[in-house]
Amino acid sequence: MKLMVVGGGGREHAIIKKLKENPAVEQIYALPGNGGIAADAVCVDIAASDISRIADFAAEQGIDYAVVAPDDPLALGAVDALEARGIPCFGPRKNAAIIEGSKVFAKNLMHKYGIPTARYAVFDDMGEALAYAGTAPVPMVIKADGLALGKGVLIASTRQEAQEAIRGMMEEKKFGHSGDRIVIEEFLTGPEVSVLAFTDGKTVKPMVSSMDHKRAGDGDTGLNTGGMGTVAPNPYYTAEVAQQCMEQIFLPTIRAMNAEGRTFRGCLYFGLMLTEGGPKVIEYNCRFGDPETQVVLPLLESDLLTVMQATTYGTLAEQPVHFSSRYACCVVTASRGYPQHYEKGFPLTMTQEAAAHTYIAGAKLENGRLLTSGGRVAGTTAVADTLPDAIREAYRLAEGVQFENAYRRSDIGRRALQALEG
Ligand code: AMP
Ligand code: GLY
Repeated sequence: MKLMVVGGGGREHAIIKKLKENPAVEQIYALPGNGGIAADAVCVDIAASDISRIADFAAEQGIDYAVVAPDDPLALGAVDALEARGIPCFGPRKNAAIIEGSKVFAKNLMHKYGIPTARYAVFDDMGEALAYAGTAPVPMVIKADGLALGKGVLIASTRQEAQEAIRGMMEEKKFGHSGDRIVIEEFLTGPEVSVLAFTDGKTVKPMVSSMDHKRAGDGDTGLNTGGMGTVAPNPYYTAEVAQQCMEQIFLPTIRAMNAEGRTFRGCLYFGLMLTEGGPKVIEYNCRFGDPETQVVLPLLESDLLTVMQATTYGTLAEQPVHFSSRYACCVVTASRGYPQHYEKGFPLTMTQEAAAHTYIAGAKLENGRLLTSGGRVAGTTAVADTLPDAIREAYRLAEGVQFENAYRRSDIGRRALQALEG
């Protein structure tokens, strides 16, 4: 079989490595892939957002199955375009990808169908937003409606900060048109859990839970990033919480999308907060999370391609999806200064052992050498029988990933360990 994976980050590297475990897979094309992915797939220089070229390429190559991993191409209708060419795909169509593409859509959906989430108000008029923020309780959370590279969320601890954030989004257009409409929501507290779930629009099969570490600095300080590391499973996500989430959140969301004529197939990501009032949805993503994928897929024991195909063909109910009961930890090595200003173009070296456990997020290949090309450069994952062992081993392996100005958080998994120790 010839497969195609759209995207070019650590998540896509993890997906490709897992897909390769199926002996029927002869060739995988990555569009555009990256310098590290080139070791596992044929990288093709087509941008992940160039929908018409992606569809042309797939048709010309006779691709048997396509995986669209990032949010942009999903929101732009990559799956619709590929299906129109007769190519079966993993991922939601454009009309379902809106669950991530518009926060207003997601909030209204949850409100309409009684899915637990933070209380909220929607504004497309800046004056009204400013007036509301002048009286709403603090802290309050300000979110741009559209996609904003994970940066369109601001937690304001004072009303003045809230009003500055609103002006930044609606007047200064810091996130372009994504900030034309905004959501102001209630600030929730509690442990956060990421749950990725396979769904064919009828059945939901959640994957093992995970915990992201979004802030740049140790102790969850500093700016929000795309994710500095992950552990799985998430110790806060007990069997009881899982059952509650299935009944109150996962199944109701799938049914709600069907009722809206927007059947969701692919991987639906639930960003949850376990509040005193029960689990609540912080956000939906219409795709695998990054770097959650880098801990979740190494624990998947079933064949990834077969499970993905079951979501496409509506046979997920009959398809076993097994996860190992072991633990995984992924430590991200980033360029110092990320997520703001950082230098790139430094030679990246890895020991053989580290390379075997590392997913490359931001490196390009030049004259046979890997050079750093992004903020997040690599994610190194270890799997072990206990969480402490997985963490220790991930850090040991990550030491083998080297480049100038490399930066890692030193406390990935610490909160999870504390939770386990009670
Ligand atoms: P998002 O980009 O939507 O994942 O939001 C980034 C982070 O902001 C989340 O991981 C949460 O830590 C935080 N956050 C978002 N919404 C809320 C909320 N209503 N209450 C508290 N924290 C929130
Ligand atoms: N790790 C969160 C995300 O993929 O958006």
